[in-house]
Amino acid sequence: MQRHLITSAIPYVNGVKHLGNIIGSMLPADVFARFCRATGAETLYICGTDDHGTPAEIAAKKAGIPPHEFVAQWYAVQKQIYAGYALSFDYFGQSSSTANHALTQHFARALHQAGLLEVRTQRMLYSAADGRFLPDRYVEGTCPKCGYAKARGDQCDGCGSVLTPTELINPYSSISGSRELELRDSPHIFFKQSQLVPQLRAWIDAQDWPNLSKSIAYKWLDEGLEDRGITRDIAWGVPVPADLATALGEPELANKVFYVWFDAPIGYIAMTQQWATAVHGEAQPTQGLPLSPQATRWWYGDATSDVTYTEFMGKDNVYFHTLSFPGTLIGSTEPWKKVDSLKSFNWLTYYGGKFSTSLGVGIFSDTALELLQDIPNGADYWRYYLLARAPEADDSEFRWADFQSVVNKDLADVLGNFINRTTTLAQKYFPGSLPPLGELTDADQVMIGKVNAALAKLTAAHQHTELRRAVEETRALWVLGNEYLAQQEPWQVIKTDPSRAATILHVALQLMPFYAAVAAPLIPLSAAMIAQRFGLSAKDFNPLPWPEKFEILTTLNYQPPTTSGILFPKITDEQIADWEVRFGNQKV
Ligand code: 2FM
Ligand code: ZN
Repeated sequence: MQRHLITSAIPYVNGVKHLGNIIGSMLPADVFARFCRATGAETLYICGTDDHGTPAEIAAKKAGIPPHEFVAQWYAVQKQIYAGYALSFDYFGQSSSTANHALTQHFARALHQAGLLEVRTQRMLYSAADGRFLPDRYVEGTCPKCGYAKARGDQCDGCGSVLTPTELINPYSSISGSRELELRDSPHIFFKQSQLVPQLRAWIDAQDWPNLSKSIAYKWLDEGLEDRGITRDIAWGVPVPADLATALGEPELANKVFYVWFDAPIGYIAMTQQWATAVHGEAQPTQGLPLSPQATRWWYGDATSDVTYTEFMGKDNVYFHTLSFPGTLIGSTEPWKKVDSLKSFNWLTYYGGKFSTSLGVGIFSDTALELLQDIPNGADYWRYYLLARAPEADDSEFRWADFQSVVNKDLADVLGNFINRTTTLAQKYFPGSLPPLGELTDADQVMIGKVNAALAKLTAAHQHTELRRAVEETRALWVLGNEYLAQQEPWQVIKTDPSRAATILHVALQLMPFYAAVAAPLIPLSAAMIAQRFGLSAKDFNPLPWPEKFEILTTLNYQPPTTSGILFPKITDEQIADWEVRFGNQKV
């Protein structure tokens, strides 16, 4: 049996994420996880919040609460929103967990033992008024590249450039506003990843990743991979352990924490440990390898592992997942499982412009759910639309009219119409029983053949994590059902040949649970509703096995459909007009 380890980039904890974050990693990973489970593969889908870093520390300070409380609040908020989208994490953890402290410190010690760490003194901005160094966004000032006046020490929102604090013109403390900053020496730990370039290149050469991911990785390697400072002068993070600080000859380092991008990907492993503890009751060992047996099964023993590890992320995260995190794993000289398949995404734009959390542009994940909260499977409307417009080959645009058109046409007019028509006709002509199955005709066999051809394409699309294709092929399967009804016209045939009409409706009815099974990775709530109409319980359904092929069964494990009713209420023009006014319908 195959085993699939799946992770999606862990979202920064502070704030509610917008729809771009959902389609840029978590939703595609969920589709793949659901598909893998349905095929019977042992599957573990891990995600969580990225808790550390200066933004979280600063935001907690603004909120007037300690960082761990701040983080706990937003973790709970995010977790609930993702449940609203039916994201089926096996565990949704936190990078600030004790499990991650232990693992991050373990990796740092292992890198030191491998001779890959070094202390370098950095000239850092120091604020006497604040009594501290000002890393990253603790300092603001004028961008040296574009002149934007409120650029942050790590990045400029005006032109998008990545910056270091000392590059800013007229810098000031973002805490106190003080401009009396001086340069002071501060020792930091550097990870000498430039020494790993040959190993990283050889490893990347051997990978079979999609183009977008591979070309980004090579670009970094070709431009020369620089050593990286992996500590920060802030208080919120994984502390540098005292033994390591001493071993590096700089005890002062024990007052510093690891950089958020050092501990965040290690968080995938730590969240698996959190899962092993929560689900299997295994404590994280405090001696030796800080990983309990269930977590070890997924993450350790790279050469002999039967695990296929697939990662999902936005393209801005590719560097960290193709070079820096693998560098940590390889540099440790321990046999950690590394990514096999890496799926990265371009941007979802709002009418061609940037979704922006800080400027409130676009639509946020919680608000999107609220808009459709009266529809029991409303989250599926978002899932389906976002997947249909997944920014795979290029950026893609969110537009309200497009959202309405995709939902109303594909879900309501194609799938919904087939389900409602079939159930209504079956109930009308054969109330209370399944229409009996007679001989299949050539026309039936042709339809079944086409369904199986489309199913094969759909299965391949899922195996290759091609979301748009998966949506297209799923829709193609639904279209075949409608065409079948339109050609066979059971409502006419019933007048002259009731037993043939029964066969047509019986065949159409058998397509319905099949449609539920193949649609479940994309629209799990609607799929469950369809399955329930056939008296299939949540247990039978979770998951409905992925069909190897569609064939007409002579013994059925389900009942005649009991309820009809509208499965996909349409989105009205009035709603769209209202939302366009509320959220805007142009590029900002
Ligand atoms: O870009 C982001 O939202 C980061 N928080 C992703 C981290 S992914 C990982 F490496 F942990
Ligand atoms: Zn700029």
